[in-house]
Amino acid sequence: MKITVIGAGNVGATTAQRIADKELAEQVVLVDLIEGVPQGKGLDMWESAPVEGTDTRIIGTNGYDETKDSDIVIITAGLARKPGMSRDDLLAANATIVGGCAEAAVKQSPNAIFIIVSNPLDVMVYVAMKRAGLAPNKVMGMAGVLDSARFRSFIALELNVSVEDVTAFVLGGHGDSMVPLPRYSSVAGIPVTELIPAKRLEEIVTRTRNGGIEIVNFLKTGSAYYAPSSGAVQMAESVVKNKHRVLPCAVWLDGEYGLKGTVAGVPVKIGKTGVEQIIEIKLLPEEAAALQRSANDVKENIAKLKF
Ligand code: LAC
Repeated sequence: MKITVIGAGNVGATTAQRIADKELAEQVVLVDLIEGVPQGKGLDMWESAPVEGTDTRIIGTNGYDETKDSDIVIITAGLARKPGMSRDDLLAANATIVGGCAEAAVKQSPNAIFIIVSNPLDVMVYVAMKRAGLAPNKVMGMAGVLDSARFRSFIALELNVSVEDVTAFVLGGHGDSMVPLPRYSSVAGIPVTELIPAKRLEEIVTRTRNGGIEIVNFLKTGSAYYAPSSGAVQMAESVVKNKHRVLPCAVWLDGEYGLKGTVAGVPVKIGKTGVEQIIEIKLLPEEAAALQRSANDVKENIAKLKF
């Protein structure tokens, strides 16, 4: 198993480290444009391997030759938000960066599964798919796992229960119109709607929706990376181990949920071939409408792309 991580910034480097710590691959190739950064971070991580007890070899490079025959390519490259910016403000710049990375990576690894992390996430899934000529089942975006993890962590805090017992679903785009679904969120199977009063739950939903900007406002110079890298690695793990996990992921939709020609976060079964199945759950009319709005926002952004 060989995994390429493109972008050696905070998200990419932390992703590489988590893959190595979990020993999910024999080799991780960390790619970045900036001379010395992927090499230095990769070497530093490899030097931690004897202490951590992992044999995952990490190498850093400025090119793509070393990425040849990767099983998974994770794209984290691109600009991150600063305070006052929305994810959509990154659209034009990151479309060029992500498109170039996807094109270069697929030449070396035509059979790889692509996991996209760069923002605006949903549109970047489309960009990677088109520019690399990927089949829709070979590309998925990491956002739902992150947004759901935020929702789960806040629910666990609220109820003082283990995060392990909290499941939660957040669908839709990775933006202000994301759709947290309290009805499908539970603590050990008990719906959170029975455990948290509606008004308080609404506040937690709002905090989840603003989870990204809450971190940006603290950091000021960039955006979150610990939780985003956890999300990407959980998706990769389901590919590596063919676990068939059901995770909310951003994928190309061709009629599922009544949505066509757009990307949105929906429950996806992930295995070694990538997207094995898009699972359609019954939504209430207002939930379906929120998902539709969110998917339309993504579609409008896709239409702004210049290629
Ligand atoms: C976030 C950014 C990375 O949600 O999209 O933290």
